[in-house]
Amino acid sequence: MSESKPERTPPAGVDTTRPSVARVYDYYLDGTANWPIDREFGNRVLEQFPLLKSIALANRLFLNRVVRHLTKLGVRQFLDIGAGVPTAGNTHQVAAETAADTRVVYVDNDPMAVAHGKMLLDEQGDPRLHAVIEGDLRAPDELWQKAIATGVLDPGEPVALLLIAVLHVHQPGPDGQDMGAQAVGRYRELLPPGSFLAISHITDEGVPDELGPKLVELKRMYDTSSSSNVIWRPRAEIDALFGGFEILPPGTVWTPEWHPEETGPNARPITFDSPSHAAIWVGVGKKTG
Ligand SMILES: C[S@@+](CC[C@H](N)C(=O)[O-])C[C@H]1O[C@@H](n2cnc3c(N)ncnc32)[C@H](O)[C@@H]1O
Repeated sequence: MSESKPERTPPAGVDTTRPSVARVYDYYLDGTANWPIDREFGNRVLEQFPLLKSIALANRLFLNRVVRHLTKLGVRQFLDIGAGVPTAGNTHQVAAETAADTRVVYVDNDPMAVAHGKMLLDEQGDPRLHAVIEGDLRAPDELWQKAIATGVLDPGEPVALLLIAVLHVHQPGPDGQDMGAQAVGRYRELLPPGSFLAISHITDEGVPDELGPKLVELKRMYDTSSSSNVIWRPRAEIDALFGGFEILPPGTVWTPEWHPEETGPNARPITFDSPSHAAIWVGVGKKTG
C-alpha cells in the first residue's frame, strides 16, 4: 500500500491513536481500511515476523474454503462474528458463488469494520439477505438477539457460526480473565440443531522451533502497543471449543490442510515450508444433538 496517498477522514468513533487488530489485519491482507498508526505497527511486526503476512492470508483463505464447503453442504445462513474489515472474499460473496440466496450477518466490535461493512453492503448487498451489526462476542445472548432482529437469519434453521481469527484476540471479562471459551459454550447452546461452528486460532504448540520466539515477540508487541492483547491457546484447548459438536473431516488441522480442494477465485498462492508454519489451528464442527 502506498504511504503517499492522502489519508481519508476516519468514520466517527474510530480511534486512530492506537493500532487496531482489525485494521492491522486489513493491512497484512493489502486492504485499504488502515491508517498510518496501523501500517507503522504492521511494518514493525512484519520486520520481526515476515511470515505473518502469509499466515494471515492462509487464514483468510481458510475462511473462504469453509464458506464454500458449507454452502455446498446446503448451509444458507452464516453468522460471521469478528468479521473484520471487508476485504477480498467476504462471506456473502463466497457463499453467493454456490447459492445466491445465502443469508449472512456480519458482526464486529470495531466501528471501523462495521462502517466499512455497511458501505460494502450498501453498494452491493441485499438488505433481505445481508446485514452488518456492531456487537460484542462476549455477550452471546445479546448478540444473538441482535443478529436475529436484523430479520436476515431464521433461528429455526441451521446457522454456520464463523469465529475466524477472533478468539486469539483476548476477550477480557470484568476480572480480566479471558471469556472467549465461555462465550463459545453459550453460542453452542444457542445455535439451532444442524448448525455448524468454524474456528481458526493461533497456537504456539506444534509449530516449528524457529516460530516459537517469533510468537512470543508477536504477543509482546500486540499486548504493549495495539488496541487488544492476544492469547495463544494450546491445540487441545482449541479443540475443546467445539464441545460435543461432531468435527467434520479432516478434523482439526493447520489452515492449509483443511479442504485445500475448496480453493476459489480469490486464492493466492502461499507456500509454507510445512503446514505447521501456518501456526493457525482450525476446524469445523456440527451440532448433531
Ligand atoms: C484478525 S481479525 C479477523 C477477521 C476475519 N474474521 C478473518 O479471519 O478474516 C479479528 C476481528 O475480530 C474482531 N473482534 C475482536 N474482539 C471482538 C469482540 N469481542 N466482539 C466482536 N468482534 C471482535 C476485531 O475487531 C477484528 O475485526
